[in-house]
Amino acid sequence: MAKFKRNLITTALPYANGPVHIGHLAGVYVPADIYVRYLRQKGEDVVFIGGSDEHGVPITIKAQKEGVTPQDIVDRYHKIIKDSFEEFGISFDIYSRTSSATHHALSSAFFKKLYDEGKFVEKTSMQYYDEKAGQFLADRYIVGKCPHCGNERAYGDQCEACGTSLNATDLIDPVSAITGNKPELKETKHWYLPLEQYEDWLKKWILEDHQEWKSNVYGQCKSWLDNGLQPRAVTRDLDWGVPVPVEEAAGKVLYVWFDAPIGYISATKDLTLEWEKYWKDPETRMIHFIGKDNIVFHCIIFPAMLKAEGSYILPDNVPANEFLNLEGDKISTSRNWAVWLHEYLRDFEGKQDVLRYVLTANAPETKDNDFTWKDFQARNNNELVAIYGNFINRALVLTQKYFGGVVPERGELTDYDREVLAEIPEIIGRVEKNLDAFHFREALKECMNLARLGNKYLADTEPWKLIRNDEGRVKTILNICLQIAADLSTLTEPFIPFSAAKLRNFLNIGPVAWNRMGDQIIPAGHTLNEPGLLFEKIEDSQIQQQVDKLLATKKANEMANARVAPAKPNVTFDDFARMDIRAGKIVAAEKVAKTKKLMKLTIDTGIDTRTVVSGIAEYYAPEEVIGQQVSILVNLEPKLLKGIESQGMILMAENADGSLVFVRPDQDIKTGSEIR
Ligand code: MF3
Ligand code: ZN
Repeated sequence: MAKFKRNLITTALPYANGPVHIGHLAGVYVPADIYVRYLRQKGEDVVFIGGSDEHGVPITIKAQKEGVTPQDIVDRYHKIIKDSFEEFGISFDIYSRTSSATHHALSSAFFKKLYDEGKFVEKTSMQYYDEKAGQFLADRYIVGKCPHCGNERAYGDQCEACGTSLNATDLIDPVSAITGNKPELKETKHWYLPLEQYEDWLKKWILEDHQEWKSNVYGQCKSWLDNGLQPRAVTRDLDWGVPVPVEEAAGKVLYVWFDAPIGYISATKDLTLEWEKYWKDPETRMIHFIGKDNIVFHCIIFPAMLKAEGSYILPDNVPANEFLNLEGDKISTSRNWAVWLHEYLRDFEGKQDVLRYVLTANAPETKDNDFTWKDFQARNNNELVAIYGNFINRALVLTQKYFGGVVPERGELTDYDREVLAEIPEIIGRVEKNLDAFHFREALKECMNLARLGNKYLADTEPWKLIRNDEGRVKTILNICLQIAADLSTLTEPFIPFSAAKLRNFLNIGPVAWNRMGDQIIPAGHTLNEPGLLFEKIEDSQIQQQVDKLLATKKANEMANARVAPAKPNVTFDDFARMDIRAGKIVAAEKVAKTKKLMKLTIDTGIDTRTVVSGIAEYYAPEEVIGQQVSILVNLEPKLLKGIESQGMILMAENADGSLVFVRPDQDIKTGSEIR
């Protein structure tokens, strides 16, 4: 590391089309933040860059669905995302955004330079054009039948039913998702970065010069390089993005994956006038923190762009993580299968560190990992509370009790004391070694070993037994414990900064530089603050609530899926006409005793007044349905339900979550009117 003077740490810019969830934190932002806080504590020069990725087709689709502008969408989510990161203590020096003026200017100039220097190749191709909408269609905007599995709703880039990636021209009977029209193929020109020209250089740079990269990253790069690289289009026919700054490209924008990584540069430029020092001086060490789906962009395409541009440095490392799953299933925004950060904070107020801790202890560093609420609770209760919190609490409370909260003098050390003290720098060394290698889980484990050491030291020396006869010995023991406590606050600051600060407050000390750990930080005679609890137990009921929430999501998804199940076989008109459906009025209603779902309704059908037992008691109260008009099938065979004869059926519509609502004439109509 000595050959570098400063550090530029970037984190993948999340798309501003939804809030961020635990998968984002675990894969990218927590590890990056740990690393940055560690470097800062060591006194290194570091800038920590983040921001929102505000271009791309999904954002325009979302805007269109909601009937708002793409700018409205990104304004909304940029704020939510930025707030979540802030609340979780992700200590960016700047959290920027790619719709900013700086970014538009810089990415535009970047393209222009490459264009002027002839670094792109131009190609015309046939692409789908929607005559009615007057625009070319991005792949996501084209829907048709999958040639592989027959799914009728495959997209122009992928069939989500069978997972095959597609070209828009592969689709059978494509239609435009904007107008529903049949699109026409039309010629369009785009600019391509000829990646194949960089292949030899990339092979040397990655496969030879960066064999130290994580094996998942190195392996993915190798497979891309072995398969041979193709030219990549860097422009698109869209109206949301950075306009391509050449006349012949009017109406086109830069491809989102071309402009987004340049966002790292723009953000640095917005942060400091010295931005070029960070981006152009080879003594800067650049590290990209990303998830595994971003590897090719950060290890192959962006480096090729930087190389083509010529004046920028390249990343020194790209410690990409694998994915975090949730309770055994892939996290998914569209299926709402996620723990959203803003919701977590509502349910677990002030417990940012618990999540930071659990996501690090269980980080998907080498393989996909699973987040479960049970594990979350266990790690909090059995590790943070029972090991870390317990040690701190005992050290503080004993000092309070025996010495009025004043740090006692250290007397003569025993061999055992020396052994314990000697273990501290060993542990710190192991934490450092792991942090330097981006092994955050291991590093955290070692931190906990320092707390374990403290607990063991207390358990072995039993100061509570010595206090009667050997106060001097107790003074030494507690002095050593408080030193361990101070070191813990420094050592765990990168991982759980809120708790580390709380601990420093108990100890009544300020932040301590990394290299002062192992020293006697707190002098004898120093007065501590009132002790308090560093962590608190998480109860079963809190966990159950979260599990129930996920179960409800799962159920809703199943219902939603059931809804797209094939339609029932055809019936004849006569079949249908045999049903006698009427507009009826509910004249009385009561819950059926000892059941959860059933309600006994008395209905005026216009023909007669009759009793119907209906499964609506979970969704309506008796008093709110009386007087309401409903649709009733009057010639259904009567049936006994809980001893009551039900003479007909009320028509209901079922929501995705299984809840029921009445189907009724949309204006009040004469009771007894036929429905057909
Ligand atoms: N928005 C992308 C994603 O969420 C990441 C962009 S990283 C950048 O996958 F380098 F392009 F900024
Ligand atoms: Zn398919």
